[in-house]
Amino acid sequence: MDTIRIGLVGCGGMGTRHLYGLRELAQSPFNTVELCALCDIRRENAELAASEAEKLLGIRPAIFTDLETMTRHTPDLAAVDVVTDPSVHHTVACQALDLGLHVMVEKPMAITVGACQMMLDAARRNHRVLSVAENYRRDPSARLVHHLLATGAIGTPYMALLHSMSPGNEIFITPWRHLKTKGGPLVDMGVHYTDLIRYQLGDATEVYGNVRLIEPVRTKPSAIGNTYTFYQKRFQAMEQTVPADAEDTSLALFTMESGVVVNWLVTIGGHASGGRELIAGTQGCLESYGTRGGRARMRLAGQEEIGHEEILKIVEGFDLEPLAAHFFPDRIADDAVDWKLIALEYHELAEAILNGRKIEVDEVEGLKDVALVYAMFESSKADRAVTMSEVETCQVYAYQAEIDEALGIA
Ligand SMILES: NC(=O)c1ccc[n+]([C@@H]2O[C@H](COP(=O)([O-])OP(=O)(O)OC[C@H]3O[C@@H](n4cnc5c(N)ncnc54)[C@H](O)[C@@H]3O)[C@@H](O)[C@H]2O)c1
Repeated sequence: MDTIRIGLVGCGGMGTRHLYGLRELAQSPFNTVELCALCDIRRENAELAASEAEKLLGIRPAIFTDLETMTRHTPDLAAVDVVTDPSVHHTVACQALDLGLHVMVEKPMAITVGACQMMLDAARRNHRVLSVAENYRRDPSARLVHHLLATGAIGTPYMALLHSMSPGNEIFITPWRHLKTKGGPLVDMGVHYTDLIRYQLGDATEVYGNVRLIEPVRTKPSAIGNTYTFYQKRFQAMEQTVPADAEDTSLALFTMESGVVVNWLVTIGGHASGGRELIAGTQGCLESYGTRGGRARMRLAGQEEIGHEEILKIVEGFDLEPLAAHFFPDRIADDAVDWKLIALEYHELAEAILNGRKIEVDEVEGLKDVALVYAMFESSKADRAVTMSEVETCQVYAYQAEIDEALGIA
């Protein structure tokens, strides 16, 4: 057997984009995944996704509205891809793992560190693969930054910053992204950044954070640029205003195990705008952590800044994995990068199931990414710096305890 049969659970915006990822994989020489079933509690979303799948993949997968029935009626189902909102990642993933399925789950791994721990336990007791679909680090720019740091291109890193500020009070993609019990905008976006920071600079040991809610009411944007049918339909149905109770503004200082100190400023609201990414080392600096569709930039001591293409001309020993090299022969992202990174996630899952390949963002890494975001919230609530070991083991947990209680997470 050289392919795995999978089901997709959660056929909303990102679920639709995962279908495009499957098309990229199907069109490559590494076709290792067969989509055979779709599941969504809202049947109309699964129907729409089935039509997209038919258009993109030439097959119309069977449709279900619950996971247990899907598993019973789908022969040789090996894995599910969980693309629901984060509040139910743990319930869907734990059920799938207990049914004997392998799981790939979209970021954030789960809604709280406690919910991540439940998934980690379920994966271990069932001896199943659990992969977190963290796409940003798979971009060629993130791989290039990682290679430059690992080979000492900028000397020893000592200080870094990650600033991303988007002003205004518009609804950020979906109304649920403004609710604490669904993840909130800082968790939704922030987990990409904590994953990139950890990927490039290693684990954190201590965090001081301050989080705030600046925009308690969100309004519908006048238009969205997104061309996917699903996003357009949802946009048309969106309320003009929605309440927000999840914090949208964060400032933090991370101390990393390596001694690097990272200054974090991430807002999706209020009136500040702009952003910068910087990793400073003893012999130069990188003006990027890498990101989906991004470009690396580097400045060495006494020299002009050079961009991604120029770095590629001088860098030694920088290779992408075979499927990524197929997708990005110039080692730089293209317009289809969103789908290609998803294809890489699917391919890694298939190889882990078929050949025992190590999952890059597994249950341990996924938990750490979520914990680093929540460390800022817990620090803010406790009004002191917190250690990562306190947060990862749920000893400092007052902020997340309220979410767990609201969702019935024991
Ligand atoms: N990696 C990325 O770049 C990226 C981008 C966007 C979204 N995401 C992630 O993807 C996930 C989904 O986000 P989205 O924007 O697609 O949300 P969405 O609201 O558009 O879609 C979620 C879908 O899940 C369905 N659903 C909810 N509970 C379910 C359940 N118990 N069983 C089956 N289906 C269920 C909903 O009906 C909906 O169709 C989130 O975790 C989000 O953070 C990742």
